[in-house]
Amino acid sequence: MSQRVAILISGSGSNMVALAQSMQGDHPGRPCLVLANDPAAGGLAKAEAMGIPTAVVDHRPYRGDRAGFEAELVRALAAAQPDLIALAGFMRVLTPDFVARYEGRMLNIHPSLLPKYKGLDTHARAIAAGDSEAGCTVHEVTAALDDGPILGQARVPILPGDTPETLAARVLPLEHRLYPLVLRRVLEGERSPIALL
Ligand code: GRF
Repeated sequence: MSQRVAILISGSGSNMVALAQSMQGDHPGRPCLVLANDPAAGGLAKAEAMGIPTAVVDHRPYRGDRAGFEAELVRALAAAQPDLIALAGFMRVLTPDFVARYEGRMLNIHPSLLPKYKGLDTHARAIAAGDSEAGCTVHEVTAALDDGPILGQARVPILPGDTPETLAARVLPLEHRLYPLVLRRVLEGERSPIALL
């Protein structure tokens, strides 16, 4: 029996596409929902083209009412009955109450070598710090932002003249390899951290 994976997005959904494309054949998971907080998220059309059910919970009517927004998220997710939730370019901060509801069943990909550079503008911060390398991390989502147990990481060099854009372009293809790898391991019951070589 396949495990049901819901994927939450806010934008282009390139990580969602990589995850969905990986869930085929003998893979233990299948995508059951792609949910966006923005009706204009480019990933929605990609999910629909792949035949994956989609939903939108627009966060804008809930400005200042995070609990109200999350109640709608919970309602949309309950309908899909996911076994696991993958945040993939999902740009809303989730409250500890929401996270607690899915504790241990929610993953995220973050474009830095955590625990360095939690939060936003990760590539610009790594460049400004003069780091020699950057990368991405897949981790379990816990109440603290970008702070849960690390499940996998991938590294790239920071090159002279790199901008946040050129660095992001070097990291993104690794995200698309790392996240599906970690997702499959987690669905197979393996949570020891891996390094993508
Ligand atoms: C990626 O860099 C991801 O690490 C971050 O959002 C960016 C866009 O992701 N969380 P996607 O193309 O929407 O999957």
